[in-house]
Amino acid sequence: MMSFISIQRRFSHVFLSITWLSAVVLGQAVTEPVVVDFLGEYCLECHDAETAKADFILEPLHFDFTKPSVVDVWQKVLEKLETGEMPPKKKPRPQLKAKQMVSGWIRAEFAKANVPALIDHKMQSPEFGNHLNHEMLFNGSQKEPASSPPRLWRLSPFIYDHMIEGLGGLRHVRAVHQPFALDESKGVISDFASGQFAGDATLQLLVMNCQSIAEYQTVGISKRDHEGIMQRHRRVPDVFRPIVEWVDKPSAEQLLAAIHFEYKLILGREATEPEVSQAIGYLAKAQANAGRVRGFQSMLVSIMLKPEAVYRLEVGLGEEDKFGRRRLSDNELAFALAFALTDKGPNKTRVGGNEGQTLFEITKAGGLASPSDIRRVVKQILDENDMSTADYTMFAENHKVRNTRVLRFFRDFFGYHHAPRVFKDENRISIDSGFETKRIVHDADQFVMHIFDEDHDVFRQLLTSNKYFVAYPGSYEKFEKDLNYIRNNLNDANFKNNEKYIARLEAEGKIPIPIEGTSSRTYVKFYNLFHETWGYQTKQPFLLPKNQRAGILTHPAWLIAWSGNFDNDPIRRGKWILEHLLAGTIQDVPVTVNAVIPEDRGRSLRDRLKATKSKECWNCHRKMNPLGLPFESFDDFGRFRKTEMLDERLSIFPERHRGARTVPVQTNGEIADSGDSSLDGPVADAFELVHKLANSTRVRQSFVRHVFRFWMGRNETFADSPTLMAADKAYIENGGSMKAMIASLLSSDSFLYRK
Ligand code: HEC
Ligand code: HEC
Repeated sequence: MMSFISIQRRFSHVFLSITWLSAVVLGQAVTEPVVVDFLGEYCLECHDAETAKADFILEPLHFDFTKPSVVDVWQKVLEKLETGEMPPKKKPRPQLKAKQMVSGWIRAEFAKANVPALIDHKMQSPEFGNHLNHEMLFNGSQKEPASSPPRLWRLSPFIYDHMIEGLGGLRHVRAVHQPFALDESKGVISDFASGQFAGDATLQLLVMNCQSIAEYQTVGISKRDHEGIMQRHRRVPDVFRPIVEWVDKPSAEQLLAAIHFEYKLILGREATEPEVSQAIGYLAKAQANAGRVRGFQSMLVSIMLKPEAVYRLEVGLGEEDKFGRRRLSDNELAFALAFALTDKGPNKTRVGGNEGQTLFEITKAGGLASPSDIRRVVKQILDENDMSTADYTMFAENHKVRNTRVLRFFRDFFGYHHAPRVFKDENRISIDSGFETKRIVHDADQFVMHIFDEDHDVFRQLLTSNKYFVAYPGSYEKFEKDLNYIRNNLNDANFKNNEKYIARLEAEGKIPIPIEGTSSRTYVKFYNLFHETWGYQTKQPFLLPKNQRAGILTHPAWLIAWSGNFDNDPIRRGKWILEHLLAGTIQDVPVTVNAVIPEDRGRSLRDRLKATKSKECWNCHRKMNPLGLPFESFDDFGRFRKTEMLDERLSIFPERHRGARTVPVQTNGEIADSGDSSLDGPVADAFELVHKLANSTRVRQSFVRHVFRFWMGRNETFADSPTLMAADKAYIENGGSMKAMIASLLSSDSFLYRK
């Protein structure tokens, strides 16, 4: 075998690998020699025993697929072929068809040996989203009709929270444990349909919660009040009273009403007929065993443990089309849309205000029959939930952005909400110093959602706008006075709740002015604003200097989130840009590599990072560092700067470091091998970098891919290419409208069909 390959390789210019070429041309079945030939042609140059790049050796080739070591080699070959990572970019590319035939052969051998292709599993996880060839997704070559696999998508913790809230008061009496957790890694879309199963621990918590709910709805839960006296807390729905309180046996109608009630409350829909008879049968048995009330509780639990209370069911129960795809049924679609846009079920998602219809009602009336109907409804929901109608106030800790799903996308995508988790040394920030990262995150939320609401040129605005929100705590005493002023001047009806007062204060420009000693003095410095001189804008957003801020990547929240404990983090900032904006990939740091840079604080960070320029490091780091280094214009608290202080782990207070040695910051960087040649080249600073990125087609498409992943809950495949292209087109044709993009995605075949 070995000599055969070697000869082939040496004479490949003569042989031109006739075996596989003819196989491709003639459409013959792929055989071992064809595969050997292919690898000889495209891989052996670097992966023979002599060259052995990456210690990966393909000669001799083995075909005994029962041996794990053999399977391991083929797993790697399959992965490199399907991701298009090998042969390396500079080398001649194999024909797509030939490549597909070889990978098809490997897959067939795996199937015979009952070995799963690891790449399939890998490609479903969020970090592998980019491994699919970008050009092929957007060049229009993929024509097959799109669909998603039938699936169960585990409910998000937010949906679960919403359901518990609907029970009112329970949380105050008994801890209700959140059974569902999300991936909290930075910069990853956290709520993915694949790979999130409800394991044993989850189910245990769920059962405990269900029992609490059933008790709360029937006999009540006991809890001592602050004086130590036992109190009973319960919320018994009126329709349950005949069953749990009355002496007489409940009538059939009363039972029916109770069952429907619980279905509606927990699952957001009425029970079907078979479900009703099942519940009644179950109830009879349970009551015979456990008594009238306990038996009833047990039936309630059985409703609460239906798969729908754990998963979003998207199986495709609608009609089958000529491509063998099934559309989501009306019911499924109503849920899918409701959960795509809100955390509430379709019976609580209203369109057209309080007078309008619920999504359920609209679906039932045939209002979501065509993709254009769906687009219209989606757009309306997004419009109606914008921030101008939100009860947002600068003061509210848990400010309410109503398009919370959209906000969550931005947070997942940019990762700026991780800022509070980046630990900064106490000596550098001091307690009460105003290092209020949560507030900074809220500012960033405002920034992105305002741009979303305006819905014009959204992506470019996100990356380049210098229209910022800067909230600040202000003086509560002064605020109280203003409140009193308003109380005395307007009639009571205007003051139903605190938030409304504040909104009114805001509207009237009566924002409390910060006084000496409040943390806002330091807080505003993150934006290079100064308490003493800044006018504390009551009208927000407002413009910050263009040469200091441009878009979210220069926002203190993003900069802090992507910083280390003592320093900026140009490597991970660059990695973020590579992966999120350039649809690029990078291998993990190999364990064999000593990934450290010198600690010597007498040198600038950029200077110390030169350690990654050695040959063994630069192959990877050249893809990241030059993208992250322009952000050296900011310190690791997100403050714009022109000089970098040396020697000391400087604190948040510049006045403490008057004598420090400084060097001017060097801000240049480079976009290299991005896959878009018009984008490649040096950049002078972060501002040039973000503007360049904001103008690039590839970058916009990379954004579309991430938006797709968030709303579909999975990575794109080549079959989704038409969906991605349509979403991109909708965005452009509507003047950079992200709402149009989302509406396009949610009315696409990828969203509507299952196969
Ligand atoms: C021009 C040289 C060259 C050619 C041709 C080439 N490779 Fe590679 N390959 C490399 C280098 C260099 C690395 C390590 C660095 C990297 O991943 O970029 C590598 C790494 C790999 C790895 C990763 C090994 C591991 O254990 O992580 C696999 C698998 C691989 N190549 C398979 C292939 C296959 C299959 C082909 C043919 C389709 C191929 N290579 C063609 C140079 C090459
Ligand atoms: C195969 C690609 C690859 C190679 C080779 C590589 N790195 Fe990295 N390196 C990475 C990636 C990816 C990260 C970011 C890791 C993350 O996101 O946590 C990283 C991170 C780092 C960091 C930041 C670590 C931290 O914890 O803050 C340092 C420092 C570093 N690399 C230095 C080096 C040096 C020095 C070499 C050469 C001796 C090297 N790396 C070789 C890919 C590589």
